[in-house]
Amino acid sequence: MLHTDEWWRDAVIYQVYPRSFADSDGDGMGDLPGITGRLPQLKELGVDAVWLSPFYPSPQHDAGYDVADYRGVDPRFGDLGDADKLIAEAHNLGLKIIVDLVPNHTSSEHAWFRAALAAAPGSPERERYIFRDGEQPPNSWTSVFGGDAWERTPDGQWYLHLFDVSQPDLNWGNPEVREEFLDVLRFWLDRGVDGFRVDVAHGLIKEENLADWTTTSTILGGVDPAGPPPPMWDQEGVHEIYQSWRSLLDQYEGGRILVAEAWVAPAARLARYVRPDEMHQAFNFPYLDAPWKPAELRTVIDESLEANNAVGATTTWVLSNHDVVRHASRLGFPVGSPRVPGIGAEDPQPDAALGLRRARAATLLMLGLPGSAYLYQGEELGLPEHTTMPDEFREDPAWERSGHKERGRDGCRVPLPWEADAPSYGFGPADASWLPQPASWAEFALDRQQGVAGSTWELYRSALGLRREHGLGHGSVRWADAGFAFRNGGVLVVTNFGAEPVELPAGARVLLSSEPLDGDGRVPTDVTVWAVV
Ligand code: NOJ
Repeated sequence: MLHTDEWWRDAVIYQVYPRSFADSDGDGMGDLPGITGRLPQLKELGVDAVWLSPFYPSPQHDAGYDVADYRGVDPRFGDLGDADKLIAEAHNLGLKIIVDLVPNHTSSEHAWFRAALAAAPGSPERERYIFRDGEQPPNSWTSVFGGDAWERTPDGQWYLHLFDVSQPDLNWGNPEVREEFLDVLRFWLDRGVDGFRVDVAHGLIKEENLADWTTTSTILGGVDPAGPPPPMWDQEGVHEIYQSWRSLLDQYEGGRILVAEAWVAPAARLARYVRPDEMHQAFNFPYLDAPWKPAELRTVIDESLEANNAVGATTTWVLSNHDVVRHASRLGFPVGSPRVPGIGAEDPQPDAALGLRRARAATLLMLGLPGSAYLYQGEELGLPEHTTMPDEFREDPAWERSGHKERGRDGCRVPLPWEADAPSYGFGPADASWLPQPASWAEFALDRQQGVAGSTWELYRSALGLRREHGLGHGSVRWADAGFAFRNGGVLVVTNFGAEPVELPAGARVLLSSEPLDGDGRVPTDVTVWAVV
């Protein structure tokens, strides 16, 4: 690691989705003790830190991104004592813990929103949210999940919800809201967390006049890099909020961090979130969205590195998370296909073998880049999306709100397979899992992969070890003259996107390869190799 307190600059951070990671009590829903019990396996994999998606009390209308109490733990997941144990055990193992902070909206069951509905229009209680009068919705904005972004209350006012109707947007113009979140940050910092992933970080401030806007925003999308920022996203006012949070975090020891989930383009605009007095990291979604094409990938890599270098930040690479089709399935569609918002049994199906082959190559390429990287639980097993889930199981609000046009995100949220021959594949002690696990998942189970040469889990473990050993996280990218190849310090990273095998330079010693080389020692199609020359 480069600087002890700047651990995040080159860290590999593993996203745990608590509902679906490990279930300790057999109710079919993952929980905090389940996570704590599996932390040694994450240590063995070789990650530096763990980001936990929300585990706070919540009616779970958006899988916990509808928070009813920012200072507690939902009984489904455990209690505050379990959170303390999880943090302590992670620290014992030398792992950092990042928690999710959801500041754009609360749940409609949060005490503040209940009080707002009970109070009169114009009251201080309503001033914490975005209420407006009128016969018609105050403007043309639509919800990211589909339908109108405004809901009418029985007394005739409207409130804004950029997501589900159960997720009212907070009014960040109100100092009380700002104070409250500083206090929430303190609450978790005092409990020892190492950072916060900030949900919808580009959305907190809305343009003052709430000007009309007819472009539909989608998860991780919605900002045209060539146009002006939409009135609900990436407004200048968000930055002073993060500056105030940074000042608070800097008062704590140990390098506490903020990572932005901000759907902002182009790269130079996103880099404004990671200026020295703001956040530490911002997910690189243009990278996640780039097609499996060398020119496009090279452009997005160069632009990201340049924009982040200009503000003294490293780049935060990511290929999968709980909001997108898993990359092992995404890359199984024809090259250049647009990213789909979920896949159902009647939809075109990806080529699973091709998808996994490319996913392994894509991961090795990503981990060969300097900066930080996020992994999403299950990708180290090569897990595909559940692409044939019967619709009756779907819980993502996008499925209903889109009028069943978008299958939504349940397919990437299916509980993990740990043991091939156990009930629920070892997700929990019972044969219960809140979303159905496909029958084919035994072959992906951890116990079928650990110690098995060439398995995806062993590929990830080797890659994380070599990445650390060769200091790739704090290196740089120097492109080779031909093909898709770059040097990062002493390591040559080569990905073959073409139809013909690619020769390695004479004398190259292969450190790791996403698939075996061909009989002549050449790099086959859709394979990444790390080598020293
Ligand atoms: C982004 C989160 O990642 C997603 O899961 C959630 O639905 C929205 N923000 C709303 O909080």
